[in-house]
Amino acid sequence: MHLTYLSILALVTSSHALIRFGCSQLVVDRLDPLVEPGNAPSAHLHQIIGGNSFVPDMSPATHDPPAMSTCTTCQPADDFSNYWTASLYFRARNGTYKRVTQKGNSGFEGQNGGMTVYYMQNQLADYLQKAKVKAFQPGFRMLIGAPTASTKAEADKFPQLTYTCLQDPGTRFPETKEFPRKPCPAGIMVNLRFPTCWNGKDIDSPDHMAHMSYPANGTFESQGPCPSSHPVRMPQLMYEVIYETAPFNDASLWPEDGTQPFVYSFGDTTGYGNHGDYIFGWKDDALQTIMDEECYVGCTSMKTQIMDAMNACSVGRKVVEDIGDEDWIPALPGHVNATWTTASKTNVFRA
Ligand SMILES: *[C@@H]1O[C@H](CO)[C@@H](O)[C@H](O)[C@H]1NC(C)=O
Ligand SMILES: *[C@@H]1O[C@H](CO)[C@@H](O)[C@H](O)[C@H]1NC(C)=O
Ligand SMILES: *[C@@H]1O[C@H](CO)[C@@H](O)[C@H](O)[C@H]1NC(C)=O
Repeated sequence: MHLTYLSILALVTSSHALIRFGCSQLVVDRLDPLVEPGNAPSAHLHQIIGGNSFVPDMSPATHDPPAMSTCTTCQPADDFSNYWTASLYFRARNGTYKRVTQKGNSGFEGQNGGMTVYYMQNQLADYLQKAKVKAFQPGFRMLIGAPTASTKAEADKFPQLTYTCLQDPGTRFPETKEFPRKPCPAGIMVNLRFPTCWNGKDIDSPDHMAHMSYPANGTFESQGPCPSSHPVRMPQLMYEVIYETAPFNDASLWPEDGTQPFVYSFGDTTGYGNHGDYIFGWKDDALQTIMDEECYVGCTSMKTQIMDAMNACSVGRKVVEDIGDEDWIPALPGHVNATWTTASKTNVFRA
């Protein structure tokens, strides 16, 4: 099945909110205010979108993104949240690396890098979006995925962190837990869906995950109930990150032993370490207002800005180093060592 979101949009009838929007790149930097607050540099490189109050330390006690931001790279004018994931590299046969840039999704052509973000009440293709959700609260933050995951079993603890090998911009199936093992003509899409049940008290937790949970049984998509420990149903936050692999798709550039050549900035060559971070920063109750509107994508209570304004918002890099945008670099930023395991060498998808 090749269902594109553009064809979904054409079919839409409305009732309650699902929003899907583009966010341009804010900065690519070796910072991680959630896991390593204050560290500049952090251990590995990230690509960040959202409000321009992004700094190394974003403690909720001192940092209020909507009050401190003067612009956002996201289409909703009231969204000063920050969203980030680890950067991706291509390793050449000679062992040097180049960063793989991102590109806008279908419908967001012209966006400078960045990602696509969704907030939904029911599963993606449910145009009714009827279930009630409570929007995230000021200071809320969370993380999903484990950079240390190196086996499929470890990755499977996070059921909705996947890859799509884009044959064309509309490809959505299949999704895999591993990096694709062959060139993807229209790029690699990384899909990150966050857990949707909140404990109702904490805006964070020591591992940045324990205050959230997956449903007690079933899934968010099947409207599984939240567990009693985490009774509050929240919107499902989802990122789609599309990597422009076109400069690297020539088979003559790929390793001769069949190893796939992409590696995360934290050294993972399997893809199992897929992870994403979120710091909530919507102004006032803007997100709750949208989630209470009856709408599917075209939500009138979501104030938007034009793409030129999204692309014009950025912050400078705090960590000055060569991140491999122009040159091929001999090592990953931070001298992270790529680990080429058996898993990254298995041609699971090759006939
Ligand atoms: C390493 O490989 C890349 C990609 O093929 C090439 O552009 C670059 O010049 C090579 N660098 C060296 C030092 O050979
Ligand atoms: C999930 O739990 C609810 C409430 O305990 C129950 O009604 C429902 O049948 C369960 N669903 C599945 C798929 O097990
Ligand atoms: C990578 O390996 C080299 C050589 O063993 C080592 O010097 C370096 O500290 C390692 N990098 C990290 C980030 O651990």
